[in-house]
Amino acid sequence: MVEVLVTGGAGFIGSQFVRSALAHEDWRVTTLDKLTYAGRLENLREVLDHPRHRFVRGDVCDPELVGPLVQGAEIVVHFAAETHVDRSIQAAGDFIRTDVYGTFVLLEAARTAPRLRRFVQISTDEVYGSVPEGASRETDELRPRNPYAASKAGADRLAYSYWATYGVPVIVTRASNNYGPRQFPEKLIPLFVTNAMDGLPVPLYGDGLNVRDWLHVEDHCRALELLIERGTAGEVYNIGGGNLVPNAELTRRILSLVDRPESLIQRVPDRPGHDRRYCLDTSKLRSLGWKPAVPFEAGLAATVNWYRTNEWWWRPIKEGDPAFRSYYERQYGGR
Ligand code: NAD
Ligand code: DAU
Repeated sequence: MVEVLVTGGAGFIGSQFVRSALAHEDWRVTTLDKLTYAGRLENLREVLDHPRHRFVRGDVCDPELVGPLVQGAEIVVHFAAETHVDRSIQAAGDFIRTDVYGTFVLLEAARTAPRLRRFVQISTDEVYGSVPEGASRETDELRPRNPYAASKAGADRLAYSYWATYGVPVIVTRASNNYGPRQFPEKLIPLFVTNAMDGLPVPLYGDGLNVRDWLHVEDHCRALELLIERGTAGEVYNIGGGNLVPNAELTRRILSLVDRPESLIQRVPDRPGHDRRYCLDTSKLRSLGWKPAVPFEAGLAATVNWYRTNEWWWRPIKEGDPAFRSYYERQYGGR
């Protein structure tokens, strides 16, 4: 059996990856997750009792817990992080702690893990900073511009240094904006879909012309599986969907899919330091045989449909959780 450790596996992308990983009949998966506000056991509902899956609740910053888990692993896929840019602008401490220090704790354990053959550091395209034109290549300078992006850049380079210095078999992946089922409803797509369903305003930052490159979460996980087998240690790989869409256009498409009027669009003051555009050159990954399989139009429609048919998943967060309400008030109340 191949022992796979997935950190952050109760989150949006991690839970999709745990599902894909369990489809490999010779993989046994341990999910390590702290279950922060963004981590939800419901995300793993179908696989919690799977005979080749074990869930461990805990913090990646805890060396006593992390040590034995990494020691037993052949593959580590490190998703665990604080992930929301707006929250990092409100308060960055948890981002530095989990994204940087937590990555350090895992890498320290990885130095002496006897069977480890792959440590996948899940980084992000935000480490390149804003890209006014052209596409970021893996060798480009990193210019992160918000506390989340800077914490991810720190972890990205720390992981690389553990390959260069100690020979830990690290690969670093930098993916673009993911979308799909089970994304926490603080991020643009699930927030706007669920607000629109309830006839509430959708708060579009600034002039709405910021561009993001959308990648379906299943395409992301397929790329990670390929890189686990065929990536080269010490290398960085961009993973992008190639769907560059300005936020205002995406918002109009969402409203049309939910069958709501454009008058729900509420222009609100911009996010400070808001990166204008991200765009990835994915030729390095494509040369290994990957290309995205989910067309954006179909993927977006299916995603909207998922939120429409899974109110049980998001209503308790948006309506029942006082922490979400107070976050929403802090973030949007004064705008
Ligand atoms: P998410 O916020 O949905 O999930 C993060 C998970 O990490 C949660 O389950 C949370 O409980 C867990 N976690 C947080 N702190 C922890 C800690 N100290 N110890 C253990 N577990 C902890 O995030 P996501 O969108 O699924 O992102 C996953 C990873 O992918 C992150 O590293 C993120 O930076 C990266 N990424 C995300 C995107 C995107 O568009 N969502 C794009 C590129 C890269
Ligand atoms: O690019 C990869 C990154 O994508 C990941 O590393 C992050 O973890 C993930 O959160 C995501 O970051 P973004 O900041 O791009 O995602 P978000 O959904 O917060 O915002 C997408 C765009 O929509 C961005 O330009 C800001 C804008 N936006 C967002 C929100 C929440 C709005 O206009 N209004 C909003 O209310």
